[in-house]
Amino acid sequence: MKITNFGSLNIDYVYGVDHIVREGETLETTGRSFFPGGKGLNQSIALARAGARVSHAGRVGLADGQFLIDYLKQSGVDVSHILTGGGATGHAVIQVDSKGQNSIFLYGGENHSITREDIDAVLSTLEPGDFLLLQNEISEVGYLIRRAGELGLKTAFNPAPFTDAVLGYALENVSYIFVNRIEAAALAGIPGEPDAGRILPRLEAAFPDAAVVLTLGSGGSILLERGERIYQDAVPADALDTTGAGDTFVGYFLSGILRGESSAQALKLAAAAAGVAVSRLGAAPAIPFLDELRELV
Ligand code: RIB
Repeated sequence: MKITNFGSLNIDYVYGVDHIVREGETLETTGRSFFPGGKGLNQSIALARAGARVSHAGRVGLADGQFLIDYLKQSGVDVSHILTGGGATGHAVIQVDSKGQNSIFLYGGENHSITREDIDAVLSTLEPGDFLLLQNEISEVGYLIRRAGELGLKTAFNPAPFTDAVLGYALENVSYIFVNRIEAAALAGIPGEPDAGRILPRLEAAFPDAAVVLTLGSGGSILLERGERIYQDAVPADALDTTGAGDTFVGYFLSGILRGESSAQALKLAAAAAGVAVSRLGAAPAIPFLDELRELV
């Protein structure tokens, strides 16, 4: 089964730092690399490397975005729904510290030039029951979710980065929701960073018809689905760079679902893939191929 991912495409500028820069501080970096990235692109790459048929829709800049299209194409992703515009391609400035933890700021660029017309053109090619994957790094996500519901699509949504606007989206149209603890707390309406134990009942009550996957980094993940809770341990890894681990998880989980695997199997596969991704540098380049996971699942 095919999935369409309407999502961001970024150039990631990654700087090695001893620690994440503090307010008012100037810090020397230990090096700089640049990689294809963006939550959208990363999730499409994860789906493709996991063996799924995926089509990516989005926008890049004419002057600097072609290599992202080429990267997706070489990875087996259908790129016929990627448009080019006159603005700059979206980019991320990422600090990665000596423990592999990151801090990111984003420039939306062409990701924020997606219009309702762009969306209607892509959605008109889909049939009821087709899968649509979304993150929260492009313009008009609320419109996408509403139209997807009206068209009977099966929507998977990773509301990252979380904004207050998410609370106004027609989330009752979403079949799969992927959140980390901070996003889950915001969705559940609990301030701060509460324990998963406080968040879970609220999410179950708010999304009785969806499968909600809560990722907890080295704490594993929990799937809530129709009153059932499935717990999955994280796969232990020496973290070099955690950027894109969540995207790897989302893409691999959905690839399992598209293949008809049980939610528990898909969760296990996703945990294995994310464990490998954190042990490598970069977001998209760190995403493993399915063959590399054979001994882990
Ligand atoms: O999830 C990781 C991604 O977030 C990076 O690739 C960066 O582009 C930001 O979108």
